[in-house]
Amino acid sequence: MPNIVVVGTQWGDEGKGKVVDLLAPHVNVVARFAGGNNAGHTVVVGREKYVLHTIPSGILHPGCRCVIGCGVVVDPGSLIEEMESLVQRSVTLDGNLFISKNAHLIMPYHPALDRASEAMLGKRRIGTTGKGVGPAYVDKAARVGIRMADLLNEGLFREKLELNVAQKNRVLREIYDAQTFSVEEILNQYLRYAGWLAPYITDTALLLSRWIDNGYSVLFEGAQATMLDVDHGTYPYITSSSTTAGGASTGTGVPPTRIHGVLGVSKAYTTRVGGGPFPSEMSGAIAEEIRARGHEYGATTGRPRRCGWFDAIVGRYAVRINGLDTVALTKLDVLDQCETVKLCVGYRYRGEVLTEFPEDENVVAEAEPVYEEVEGWRAPTGGAKNEADLPAKARRYLERLEELVEVPFCLISTGPQRDETILCEDSPLLRWFPSVRSSLT
Ligand code: GDP
Ligand code: IMO
Ligand code: MG
Repeated sequence: MPNIVVVGTQWGDEGKGKVVDLLAPHVNVVARFAGGNNAGHTVVVGREKYVLHTIPSGILHPGCRCVIGCGVVVDPGSLIEEMESLVQRSVTLDGNLFISKNAHLIMPYHPALDRASEAMLGKRRIGTTGKGVGPAYVDKAARVGIRMADLLNEGLFREKLELNVAQKNRVLREIYDAQTFSVEEILNQYLRYAGWLAPYITDTALLLSRWIDNGYSVLFEGAQATMLDVDHGTYPYITSSSTTAGGASTGTGVPPTRIHGVLGVSKAYTTRVGGGPFPSEMSGAIAEEIRARGHEYGATTGRPRRCGWFDAIVGRYAVRINGLDTVALTKLDVLDQCETVKLCVGYRYRGEVLTEFPEDENVVAEAEPVYEEVEGWRAPTGGAKNEADLPAKARRYLERLEELVEVPFCLISTGPQRDETILCEDSPLLRWFPSVRSSLT
């Protein structure tokens, strides 16, 4: 059974939650491999809307097991809140949720350090979600992080906590002039969390390996996106984890040789939250229009998302970095009323036109978009059940996008609901999950 990675191809919020929820009935396991509660993955089921932050988007399907891998950083308070709210809505967690022993914990001093660092960066601030995700990964790399397994060993947890609090308090007090933390308060709070989470904490890499041995199929759910990856994104305006396909292996312990394909999720336009370069950013009335029609406000922080046209340079870069086999294109409906639709096909930089995404952040910052412009279709795409139902001009737009990114599309999404999804003809998904045909048509 195939094991497939799902990643965002732009700067996040492409609709990964919707796509993972759609595919979850066709796999046995969904495993999150990166990020923390900086993510907000929305799943809409009829009148119900679920926003998942740390729990994989397969959780709404009772037959699907969900793994929080070692590459994820977990804020236990936020996770427990998410778990309680799902249980209240009759979602089954017991037997379906597994948390890696090696996942690092977000501690109360991490959001404090996140905020303090942002304030000090001034106009070079990243615009983080303020959840403490960056500082938690800093501790992981600095080898002072505290992991899920440590929660289950009070003596060891206290020892690691004392060391960290002493160090962080000094930094908070002396560098940032910020509030400090008490070991006892954190200890009491986190031991309560440990009581809650203990039944879910396990060796998930071993579990995944055994499940795959038994023929189970795993979907790896990415968080954030290619352009926010710590190595391949628009550094330093990125998140602090490996959000691209390679992260699926290190973030779960499933080796690359056991992964069979990669699916990218792209919006029909682009959005970005926070600071950093964004060559195809729109301005003025059109940006406001797209933001309003697409409800482009952060699912985690409520911040207005910056909006831009589809950037084929970014699209092709995502194909190359992730080895995408196919792309699910979302939010086509948001462009339904546009008189014209633009498409970024190159970057003009000091008289030259670049067609590959530049590695140099200074080049990206100066890059001017080169646009192709197509006539809008000015008709609803929402009710379409297959590609042939789409307005001809919308089909031409999709064909041009496919041609530019150089991989076939598998799904076209025209609304937040599960049934507002078109399965593309000869969709590469059918090779992996033949049963998708009956559920999506
Ligand atoms: P994620 O972080 O990639 O999972 O995406 P988010 O959930 O943060 O943002 C995507 C938003 O778009 C959510 O509110 C979805 O319900 C919504 N959405 C997903 N697909 C579509 C679509 O095709 N059309 C419209 N109008 N909304 C969509
Ligand atoms: P999903 O999974 C969009 C952005 C933040 C900021 C940068 C660093 O829902 O697509 P961080 O708090 O991670 O240190 O912030 O990354 N960011 C996201 N933008 N979607 C996300 O997740 C994001 N997670 C982080 O806005 O620019
Ligand atoms: Mg999101």
